Amino acid sequence: MEEINYIDIFEIKKKLKGSFIGKNLYYEQKVDSTNTLARDLASKGVKNGSVVIADFQEKGRGRNGKFWTSPCACNIYMSIILKPKITPENAQGMTILAAVSAADAIAETASLNPQIKWPNDLLIDSKKVCGILTEMATQNMTIEYIIVGIGMNVNIAESDMDDNIKDIATSLLIESKKNNKSIALIDRNALIASILNKFDKYYEMFLSTGLSPILTSYQKYFGMMGKTVEINVKDKKVSGQVVGIDSKGALLLKTGENELEKVVSGEIYI
Ligand code: BTN
Repeated sequence: MEEINYIDIFEIKKKLKGSFIGKNLYYEQKVDSTNTLARDLASKGVKNGSVVIADFQEKGRGRNGKFWTSPCACNIYMSIILKPKITPENAQGMTILAAVSAADAIAETASLNPQIKWPNDLLIDSKKVCGILTEMATQNMTIEYIIVGIGMNVNIAESDMDDNIKDIATSLLIESKKNNKSIALIDRNALIASILNKFDKYYEMFLSTGLSPILTSYQKYFGMMGKTVEINVKDKKVSGQVVGIDSKGALLLKTGENELEKVVSGEIYI
């Protein structure tokens, strides 16, 4: 029988360099959803910067009520608990931070070149490798906590992927093999530590100078400039050419000769 290579939080801790993200690490072999567990912990008062990691999720959640398949002890399912003193309309910034941190970590640990599909999908060769689900609890327009959930396909083989996502999803291992770079499994402990180290760095930057320096890194991975897209925004469809990202992370679309539309959130089709 093939040996299961579980996540080792002591290995992760050894590699953490930041000042507070991941100082408290909660690991469970199997959970319903790391975001749900993180939410419970956050409401019970765990520290800002605590992180929940699991090897399996039975009820992994994606955006827009979708299910996030979380099968083997071979991917990353992780949620970061944050309690920043920012206004709810700036919370979108946390998703941007997570996307850039995950992209940097993939480039560093797996030597691959991910692209960001706004606002928060990471793609390699046009297939999704990482998704981010940011959830927030507020009271009287003040943030109680934000949960940033990161799901990344790391060592899953194509044959182990659900049939309904095979055409649209990939993993770091699949892409590494394609490029003939490596057939070895990617070290998930190193990859998790790298994401958390980057997040720690960008979070400090965000609190001291705002989102703009992080948006500079975001642009490096942004693969949508100039593309014509259609976006479902609540009950209407907006289409246009992508011309940039604004200072809060909203997508800027040229929808007519002299018309610009700012899209704060939505489901995008390229
Ligand atoms: C998306 O739809 O793209 C977002 C997917 C987010 C999945 C991650 S896995 C860890 C965390 N726990 C969850 O239940 N969801 C997020």
